[in-house]
Amino acid sequence: MISEKMAQRLNDQINLEFFSSYTYLSMAAYFKTQGLNGFAHWMLHQADEERAHGMKFFEYLYDQDRSAVLQAIKQPHTTFASALAVFEETLSHEKHVTASIVELMSLALEEKDHATRILLDWFINEQVEEEAAARDIRDRLKLVKDNAMGILLIDRELAART
Ligand SMILES: [Fe+2]
Ligand SMILES: [Fe+2]
Repeated sequence: MISEKMAQRLNDQINLEFFSSYTYLSMAAYFKTQGLNGFAHWMLHQADEERAHGMKFFEYLYDQDRSAVLQAIKQPHTTFASALAVFEETLSHEKHVTASIVELMSLALEEKDHATRILLDWFINEQVEEEAAARDIRDRLKLVKDNAMGILLIDRELAART
């Protein structure tokens, strides 16, 4: 069984993952209003992934004889200045999530909680990939600036995400 403190912190992480999911769903809604369906598709996929992250922690709590206690999900931003602004926010949000996972890892090490440490190993790697993916798209949006053809080209590419 994991400590009560760890269970509390994992519950907070469930909330952060679901807030991430809600944030990306809100970004998908924005892209749909812009007619950028490839960007919307990418964000819907991202929202599903974040929900799955939350569910990994949810199931883990029960594996460790603890319970999930769901908290209110904060309202995400609903308006964005541009596709670039969305990906700047995505990157900074992922950095925030990374910092949260790193704090959980520090607690696991401090408590010699190796089972949770092994679960968190997966999340540490996942965060490297998440930041890299957001940074890659952010950088290409920076290159094309407000060139419509450039944005449409990226949109077509993001439509292919599976
Ligand atoms: Fe996540
Ligand atoms: Fe993420």
